[in-house]
Amino acid sequence: MTATVTEYVCQDCGTLLRHSNPNTLESMRDVHNQLCVVKRQKTMAQQVAVPKPATPAAAAPAPAATASPPPAIPATPSTPAAGGPTTISLSGTGTSYDKVDGPIDPKFKEKRQPVGTYQGIKVWGPYDAPGQLGIWGENVCVDFDICVADGACIEACPVNVYEWLQTPGHPASEKKAFMIREKDCIFCMACENVCPPQAIKIFKKG
Ligand code: F3S
Ligand code: F3S
Repeated sequence: MTATVTEYVCQDCGTLLRHSNPNTLESMRDVHNQLCVVKRQKTMAQQVAVPKPATPAAAAPAPAATASPPPAIPATPSTPAAGGPTTISLSGTGTSYDKVDGPIDPKFKEKRQPVGTYQGIKVWGPYDAPGQLGIWGENVCVDFDICVADGACIEACPVNVYEWLQTPGHPASEKKAFMIREKDCIFCMACENVCPPQAIKIFKKG
C-alpha cells in the first residue's frame, strides 16, 4: 500500500517531471536540481550580500552589483534540429530480427563499422532496416536494437539532445531516442543512468 511517486515539481522554476518508475523520477529530479538555472540564480543571489537601504538622500550611489552571472545552461536547444546528410534508409526488407538485450557494448567502436549517416548522425552497423538498426551516435550513442522507447532519456536530458524518430518495423519498438542535437550534450550522464535497458553510452569529448 505504498504510494507511487510519479511527479515532481521544481519549487524554483516550476518544471514538472513525470515518470512511472520512482527510481527513474528520483534520478531525473537529482539531475534537474543540479542543473536548474533558477535555483542557481537564487543561490547566487543569496551569496551576494544585500546592502542595507541607503538612508541619506545625498549618499553616494551604491555601485551596481557586479557579481558574475551563473554559468548559462540552455533551457532550450541551441542547435537547430536540421541535420547533415542522410545516406541510409529506415525502410527496407531487412529480416535480421534478433532481439538484443542491454547493456550496450561500451567497446562497440572497436568492433563495428560506420555504415552511413542519418541527418548527420553517424550509424554503426550491422544495419539491415527495418529490423536491425545498429548503434547511432558518436558521443551520445544509443543502441537502437536495444532501445524499447521508454522515453526516460528524452525527459531527463536538460539540453534536449533527443527527439523521437519513428522506426516502423523494428521488433523492440517503433520509435527511438534520436540524438539529433548531439553537439549540445553537456555530458551530465542523466540519460545513460535512467535508461531501463541500458541502451545508451555517452563518450565525453577527449
Ligand atoms: Fe543529454 Fe548528454 Fe546529459 S544527451 S542527458 S546532456 S549526457
Ligand atoms: Fe530508448 Fe532507453 Fe531512451 S529505452 S527511449 S534509449 S530511455
